[in-house]
Amino acid sequence: TRSIDLAVVAGDGIGTEVVEQGLAVLESAVAGSDVKISTTEFDLGARRWHATGETLTDEDLGRIKEHDAILLGAIGDPSVPSGVLERGLLLKLRFSLDHYVNLRPAKLYEGVTSPLANPGEVDFVVVREGTEGPYVGNGGSLRTGTPHEIATEVSINTAFGVERVVRDAFARAQARPRKHLTLVHKHNVLVHAGHLWRRTVEAVNAEFPDVTTDYLHVDAATIFLTTNPSRFDVIVTDNLFGDILTDQAAAITGGIGLAASANINPDRTAPSMFEPVHGSAPDIAGQGKADPTATVLSVALLLDHLGLTEEARRVETAVAADLAERGGRVRSTAEVGRELAARVAG
Ligand code: IPM
Ligand code: MN
Repeated sequence: TRSIDLAVVAGDGIGTEVVEQGLAVLESAVAGSDVKISTTEFDLGARRWHATGETLTDEDLGRIKEHDAILLGAIGDPSVPSGVLERGLLLKLRFSLDHYVNLRPAKLYEGVTSPLANPGEVDFVVVREGTEGPYVGNGGSLRTGTPHEIATEVSINTAFGVERVVRDAFARAQARPRKHLTLVHKHNVLVHAGHLWRRTVEAVNAEFPDVTTDYLHVDAATIFLTTNPSRFDVIVTDNLFGDILTDQAAAITGGIGLAASANINPDRTAPSMFEPVHGSAPDIAGQGKADPTATVLSVALLLDHLGLTEEARRVETAVAADLAERGGRVRSTAEVGRELAARVAG
């Protein structure tokens, strides 16, 4: 028997609703096998912050680290000042657990309507750097609130950090049929960081000679994501560009209700974390109508990361089949979860 200890951070809003269905599908995927999943729920997010003023304590973090993986729903609520939970909880998890690969697949499944008239075949992954860039919080404000205010957010790009994520992206490109990697940056303006990224891609390419590469400035990348998304196979980019591009990638492949993500620590020095790209959607929270599909696809990424490749494949196949037959049918969160779980069980 293999036992998997899963930390569950359902979080805020629809987070709890979609995670419940994600867990049901996960159970269904390992049912009848020798894999046993045990879950520990962590009370983190808006409720906890209101009650205690805490976002993520050292003790929480220590306990989370003892798990094999983390499933996260969504963090954030309008009742909490912007940035408190984002920085104090979500980003703190990504940074503390060294999730330097933020993997975000973008695939247009059969049966899903893209807002693009002629999307073509869309199947690429974005490898978004997860621990550096403008997200590190290196900045400040002088003369705050005055007409002479100076606000800075310094983007940190280290040779170490860029190289490790670029190497991971090359490895992913090499494992895919098209073996193509696109670096997205803005080296005509952000010359220091941009050239570090460019030199690094060039250098690491020597280790992966069969992978072809190209480069796009981020503004041009947004054009091609709209006009010709089929050209992309693997995109590697920094934390902020990756944040923006992956929302666009989600939009062209059916919306954030379907977009999955994995925050991976490839060195396995801490558990990786799997979460839908969407947020807590307070406007529809508690109504049982959020689409759990993004969370279920994140569960597939989780299974894959844990080496349960066959189980991961079954979950993705179930989602693909469900999407192909979905049409305009309106189902509740629980109905979608139940039907996916049933498909996975076969
Ligand atoms: C995401 C989100 C987060 C990010 C926010 C909530 C901090 O937009 O996961 O893409 O910017 O990374
Ligand atoms: Mn985002």
